[in-house]
Amino acid sequence: MLENIKIPKIPKISQTHLHGIKDLSIEDINNILELSKIFKEHNKEKDKKIPILKGRTIINLFFEPSTRTLISFEIAAKRLGADVINMNIEGSSLRKGESLFDTAQTLGAMNPDLVIIRHGVNDASKEIAKILECPVINAGEGVNEHPTQALLDAYTIMSHNRKLNDITVSICGDLEHSRVARSNYYLLNKMKSKVRFVFPDYFKPKDLDKYDVETFTNLEDGIKDADIVMMLRIQNERIKDLNLPSTNDYFRSFGLTYEKLKSAKPEALVLHPGPINRGVEIENELADDVNKSVITEQVENGVAVRMACLSILVK
Ligand code: CP
Repeated sequence: MLENIKIPKIPKISQTHLHGIKDLSIEDINNILELSKIFKEHNKEKDKKIPILKGRTIINLFFEPSTRTLISFEIAAKRLGADVINMNIEGSSLRKGESLFDTAQTLGAMNPDLVIIRHGVNDASKEIAKILECPVINAGEGVNEHPTQALLDAYTIMSHNRKLNDITVSICGDLEHSRVARSNYYLLNKMKSKVRFVFPDYFKPKDLDKYDVETFTNLEDGIKDADIVMMLRIQNERIKDLNLPSTNDYFRSFGLTYEKLKSAKPEALVLHPGPINRGVEIENELADDVNKSVITEQVENGVAVRMACLSILVK
């Protein structure tokens, strides 16, 4: 019953768009995470609709493949009562040579209330925000940022009673090509977590000197006494001119196993943004072990966190 639904107070944040965690204040992050808590509770109801964005139009513009981010943004927007259009890039005039600029101008002419973009190029979300008159959310771009992933990761960590200012987080694997790592770094660093980057030499980030992190090239050393072990996907689609080891060799040296995890704190949580390369980045059974791995919870929390971001940004 509509009249029984309690609409939460929607906080304001300092930004019109969500291009990256880098732009958010600590207060912005706390406001988003607090609102996410309310939506997480609401999502347990049988009737999950809460008409905060009724009559609004949201466009998903995904130039790169996605399951979690695309579907959870769609579910989030629909739960808030918005109309959602998932633009089919392959069937669009982009394939007839229309530019991103003209595509954005065309979509803008249809008066959307918010556009969500995933793109292979850094700063694509800022570029289309210059053309559109509505807020834009970066749903993962190039090797720059994936801000809603970092927010849902923080939410997941906090939901296990970990305080962000009192934890060591080891981010492990393909640091060079990971936008998830960069957004998580910005968030965790702002919130005063101790952040470690743990990577084999061939995944050493070229911009490493920008980050205030301890670095390790051995997985067991890098996760020693860590509270959070965040494994990263190998971004095969972004890897050029690198002589990578075989997947078996990678797993032997850098795949997370029960044995290697003994080096972390006994109660350490294992995160992975997905999709997982099973048996490469993480041992199969460990990925599915709900006593250690919170990977499925990350996906679930993504809906609540994205509901919070949409509620806050749509005007
Ligand atoms: N974590 C993440 O961005 O997953 P998808 O590529 O499936 O959206």
